[in-house]
Amino acid sequence: MAFKTNFLWGGATAANQFEGAYLTDGKGLSTADVMTAGAYDHPRQVTWKNPTTGETGATDFGFATDKRQVPVGTNPAVLDNEYYPSHTATDFYHHYVEDIKLMAEMGFKTFRLSLNWSRIFPNGDDAEPNEAGLVFYDHVFAECHKYHIEPLVTLSHYETPLNLAIKYNGWADRQVIDFFVKYAKLVINRYHDQVKYWLTFNEINLMDMGPFLAGGVIDGSPQNRAQAAHNQFVASALTVQAAHAIDPKIQVGQMLAYSPLYAYTADPADQLKVQLQQQATLFYSDVQTGGHYPNYRLNQYARDGIKLDDRPEDYDLLAKYPADFLSFSCYGSNTVTTHEDKGDAAGNFMTGVKNPYLETNAWGWATDPDVLRIALNTLFDRYHKPLWIVENGIGWADELTADQKIHDDYRIKYLQANLNSMRDAVTIDGVDLMGYTMWGCIDLVSAGTGEMKKRYGFVYVDRDDIGNGSLKRIPKDSFYWYQKVIANNGSDL
Ligand code: BG6
Repeated sequence: MAFKTNFLWGGATAANQFEGAYLTDGKGLSTADVMTAGAYDHPRQVTWKNPTTGETGATDFGFATDKRQVPVGTNPAVLDNEYYPSHTATDFYHHYVEDIKLMAEMGFKTFRLSLNWSRIFPNGDDAEPNEAGLVFYDHVFAECHKYHIEPLVTLSHYETPLNLAIKYNGWADRQVIDFFVKYAKLVINRYHDQVKYWLTFNEINLMDMGPFLAGGVIDGSPQNRAQAAHNQFVASALTVQAAHAIDPKIQVGQMLAYSPLYAYTADPADQLKVQLQQQATLFYSDVQTGGHYPNYRLNQYARDGIKLDDRPEDYDLLAKYPADFLSFSCYGSNTVTTHEDKGDAAGNFMTGVKNPYLETNAWGWATDPDVLRIALNTLFDRYHKPLWIVENGIGWADELTADQKIHDDYRIKYLQANLNSMRDAVTIDGVDLMGYTMWGCIDLVSAGTGEMKKRYGFVYVDRDDIGNGSLKRIPKDSFYWYQKVIANNGSDL
């Protein structure tokens, strides 16, 4: 058994990390545009301004915080003399022809990108869309199809229009459901001939850990986070309903951040910790892909005094219009314990303890050679729906050699192990897998740290952490390796 002949090999990006052109052709500000750059040892910040006093400042971007993202009475804002990586990013906006050609040279069958919502509805709640923003994506999709590349489009990838954050507290307000569904219907109607595969919310479960990132939620109290997640679930169901009515060929997937969790010891208390912590993630796919709120979450809401602003028809929609497939990001595993601290390890917005069996990169993320087989089996057993790995890869401070090459053998090694594990899940275990898109296929800004230095791509982009560089594209060694992998449909890694 091998990968299907129509297996969708490719790469993934997100508008706010890749496009730049943050105010070009009528684009409005998004939440990403007020986030500064950070690094491994210091967080990104959200800058703000008090509209009455003019006072300005910056607040650390917070994960898993109950605090407000910016102080009361202030609004997230772009300040003079601050550097914002999303403003230029790696300028896909002006390089898309060259970039898509490079993807075609690698043999991509698919390209995952997100639409910048505020390019289309600059304030999120506008009566009319910005035609210039739509025209940009007309060109991008035409370019993809020139090379028979199927676009996979995320509707919302950490780039909520900033006005929605300021005026409505982002997704915590039910009105945002209507704004999103209007946007989704507009773009699905316009592009359904070009785009068959859609994703609603990137890493929807980040709502628990980074509500400003995941949904423009400034006041991220537990109540607001629960409400914002509920609103996104309803918006997802309405999008599935609308998409199927517009064109039955369309498939709308969920996108989950998923890292298998391991117990550090054989102590049952550690196994229980793993199970409970997994529920915090799987709750999101239980609802959006499974179609129902699980009891463990409803009981938790009751214990915590959380009351959703819901309607009986919400639950009918969730059950009737679950996601057609489940896509997920997976970079490595996390290890947890109830025992004394074993030394911190970092991860894809999740932390745990250091696993003595695994190597880590310079940002502390563990590389796990079995991770994709474990992840794919877990998710397939639970939902029995087609899966799609839409993010996987390794961030590395690649070095350009004097002869303008990047010898990224560490990336090839990481990908070889991961793709082997993915192949075992498909060929040995029979998991139904639609495709694989390596994250950040052309270098782009890191979401977690805002750095350029943390590079994922098969293609190097000449740009540094403070905005210097020619933006020139240079294929890395891994570019040629991936080209071969796609050509032999993953039979020889
Ligand atoms: C995922 C996000 O969490 O991981 C991407 O969907 C992100 O937007 C990617 O870039 C890698 O994380 P980071 O922090 O290294 O950019």
